[in-house]
Amino acid sequence: MIRTAVLGLGSYVPDRVVTNDDLRHMDSKHVLQEEVLTETNDAWIQQRTGIRERRYVPNDGSVGTSDLALEASKRALADAGVDAKDVDCIILGTLSPDIHFPGTAVFLQDKLGIAGEGKGTSCACYDIRQQCSGFVYGLQMADAFIKAGMYKRVLLVGAETHSHSLDFSTRGRDVMVLFGDGAAAVVLGPQETDDARAGVLYTDCRADGSGAWNLYLKIFDIKKAPYLGYDTRDPEFYKDVHPQMDGKRVFLHAVRNMVVSSQQALARSGLTWDDIDWFVPHQANLRINEKVVEVAGIPPEKVLNTIQFYGNTTAATVPLTIDHWRKEGKVKKGDRVLATVFGAGFTWGSAIFQV
Ligand code: UT7
Repeated sequence: MIRTAVLGLGSYVPDRVVTNDDLRHMDSKHVLQEEVLTETNDAWIQQRTGIRERRYVPNDGSVGTSDLALEASKRALADAGVDAKDVDCIILGTLSPDIHFPGTAVFLQDKLGIAGEGKGTSCACYDIRQQCSGFVYGLQMADAFIKAGMYKRVLLVGAETHSHSLDFSTRGRDVMVLFGDGAAAVVLGPQETDDARAGVLYTDCRADGSGAWNLYLKIFDIKKAPYLGYDTRDPEFYKDVHPQMDGKRVFLHAVRNMVVSSQQALARSGLTWDDIDWFVPHQANLRINEKVVEVAGIPPEKVLNTIQFYGNTTAATVPLTIDHWRKEGKVKKGDRVLATVFGAGFTWGSAIFQV
């Protein structure tokens, strides 16, 4: 039987480390200033979220989401031993696309050197917009494509540039402190095997659109003409151009759905925690993950987190966390991961797969 295998994995975060204390001194373009500009502090951020630091791209206009995606993709392709020209499908999850359209996957294709006459492969390029759930949603798509025989080398990428859309002021501190920039990618392909547990074993994706306005970034309203009709003197202007979140509601829904989704993943696939090497939850808040682990009865020694180092990189968190702990020597080739995600939409889901 044909099953989907993870052939390679790679991640990339920008060099610039931003500490919790730095966030007190950031101006609106995330340039550090001498004076304190935002009322927040390291103790609050660590206690409520577990985050110690995150990475930001330079603010000189030189790096965007497709650039982060490119670096992660090159590393994943090298890890898989796959040439970029052999990729026949790119699926890119992001909530911070380079521009409104076209999607960021085509910019990535061009930067990989596989677009255009002569050198081009004309591979399929999908952007998916499932925010923090993008990796699990993308994995389900890739798995279906590969099992159907549609594609043989799928590059699945999660990439985010959050730092340019955050509100660096006391008003925006609840959301601003959470997010970081980064990207991670996997290369997936078919594997002929009799082992029903090999490769991608389970995926399940869910959504509840009644939560859409509990976590959103509006930017424009296509119902209106002009659809970018901002009045920068309007005191509510900031709500249109920075992410808005009902943190408590999102927190509660995240815990509830991640508990149910991870428990269903095991029950439906007939596995127990003995069959799982690592639980990799989405990295939105360490307190969410600790609650999920407690309520769902997940062995704490099997849990991998990286929010301490990178904050929330939305679509990138799951592969970034796996790659981080692989580099630290914890995760090994062939280990079986249960990943559970939750994000804006609301969207959520789980996947069980071998690395
Ligand atoms: O990946 C997408 C999914 N996103 C999430 O899952 C995020 C879910 N939500 C959360 O993680 C939490 O709700 C937050 C971390 C965002 C907020 O934590 P909280 O425990 O719900 O705090 P809160 O909003 O109830 O605020 C408590 C206090 C408030 O002050 P008062 O009114 O009690 O005086 C806030 O103004 O903390 C204040 N506060 C801050 N103080 C220092 C809020 N943000 C900050 C901050 N620094 N950054």
